[in-house]
Amino acid sequence: MNQDPSEELKRRQKTIEEMGGSVRVKKQHQAGKLTARERLAVLLDEGTFEEIGAHVRHRSTFFGLDKQDIPSDAVVTGTGRIDGRVVYVYSQDFTVAGGSLGEMHAQKIQRIQDLALKTGNPIIGLNDSGGARIQEGVDALAGYGEIFKRNTWASGVVPQITVIMGPSAGGAVYSPSLTDFIIMVRGTGQMFITGPQVIQTVTGEQVTGEELGGADAQVRLSGVAHFSAHNDEEALRLVRQLLSYIPNNNRELPPVSSEQDPWNRLIPALADVIPRDANKPYDVKRIVLAVIDPASFLEIQQGYADNMVIGLGRLGGHVIGITANQPRVLAGTMDINASDKLARFVRFCDAFNIPIVTFVDTPGYLPGTSQEFGGIIRHGAKVLFAYAEATVPKITVILRKAYGGAYLAMCSKSLGADWVLAWPTAEIAVMGPEGAANIIFRDVIRQAENPEMVRKQKAEEYREEFANPFVAASRGYIDSIIDPQETRLHIARALMTLMNKRDSRPHKKHGNMPL
Ligand code: HXC
Repeated sequence: MNQDPSEELKRRQKTIEEMGGSVRVKKQHQAGKLTARERLAVLLDEGTFEEIGAHVRHRSTFFGLDKQDIPSDAVVTGTGRIDGRVVYVYSQDFTVAGGSLGEMHAQKIQRIQDLALKTGNPIIGLNDSGGARIQEGVDALAGYGEIFKRNTWASGVVPQITVIMGPSAGGAVYSPSLTDFIIMVRGTGQMFITGPQVIQTVTGEQVTGEELGGADAQVRLSGVAHFSAHNDEEALRLVRQLLSYIPNNNRELPPVSSEQDPWNRLIPALADVIPRDANKPYDVKRIVLAVIDPASFLEIQQGYADNMVIGLGRLGGHVIGITANQPRVLAGTMDINASDKLARFVRFCDAFNIPIVTFVDTPGYLPGTSQEFGGIIRHGAKVLFAYAEATVPKITVILRKAYGGAYLAMCSKSLGADWVLAWPTAEIAVMGPEGAANIIFRDVIRQAENPEMVRKQKAEEYREEFANPFVAASRGYIDSIIDPQETRLHIARALMTLMNKRDSRPHKKHGNMPL
């Protein structure tokens, strides 16, 4: 190194910035993917990226690695800003050794995780990697272990968002899965534990990588990922949007938007949104969209367990988490997947100080052997655990059916709701009137001359007695029965009242959630 030191620095920087070289960069673009550095330029506010560890090199000598130059060890790491807020980022560089993760690559990611935890700022990972660098063997595996450990420590302390923009195979999928949100790019992002070849060898099944672990599979079928995007740019814009709802860490409140829709706005459209026939479906998203600030709803896990709607929105500029049964899908019943989806979201909101507004219209749990054998008891219990454990403001609006265990699970007063509102159409009962009549009047119906007529009569009696909000309100399980048009106004008032809510649970290491 006899050259002028600044010339040497420039030469080295040039090598780093060239990444895997023009041929591999071209290949990356031909695959429809941006490079690691281009992605950071789209993600971050202009000119804010401060790179850390650009000169880090691997030190492995196995399988000829000592002769292989791997600029920045195939990952670009650093810090930058999104809407002026500090974030920590890593972006794996597929043009260099396939973005594979070796010991030093892993250490760079760990450094970012450590800094984010110390400073209380979000971590964003852009994944595009062939996985553990095969030549480095156990050093690469250990690197993953250290990352998983930090993912877990950071969970519930700082937000973690992962974008899958290329392959993510084998145990490497577990770092994304330990983060709060996974966004997948359609056509290029793929996640699987064992790839198509291994599957064919072991089980004989034939499946393509895209079918097995593409965005469709992981968002709609498995529920592993939360969002999909059509390309890299859209995915990165989505990260920015998502972050606008989330605070920097668990000690801060979510950002408040300056866009202020009047909190006391009436919504005449809600007067007749619920069909007169109690068994007719309707789209609960119409209610959600009408109640919150315009264009503020970001639905999460759309396409997975759509009988449960979850998402982030704003009311009077303040962020809220929204959960709602969807009567249009499986009649709004609760099942295994809906329970998992709901429980995880409630815990996310609670971890990051986001009040939860729950809209209820559910006839109960989905019956069937597949549900029972699949462990609906265990999965359903997660919802009870999550709501009961949550200390953020919890507001419940009962729209129509709230039956049995599902009534309790959807953040009932007895489970810990701070404020329960009900529409006049609300029906709170142990079960639906027909089912109830069949059980409690079984003998009367059986002995009747016209059993069908008696069954209907008895169901009607039960409906009149219990399938309304008045009995529950008379016992204090409902705080107010409201005009649907005033729903926004009442939720906003409740939120304002609960703004300074402080709640605590008995000290413990952690609970034993029924996972
Ligand atoms: C070292 C790797 C690599 C890896 C890719 N490369 N993956 N080098 N370790 N894991 C290199 C390739 O050798 C190639 O180098 C360059 O990256 C680009 O790869 P290509 O194969 O040319 O690209 P493509 O055709 O797009 O295929 C991408 C791929 C494929 C599907 C990811 O490379 C692949 O199958 N890689 C192996 C995946 C894998 O089995 N990884 C281990 C998973 S297990 P050259 O120099 O030729 O350009 C795991 C365990 C983690 O990760 C456990 C944690 C607990």
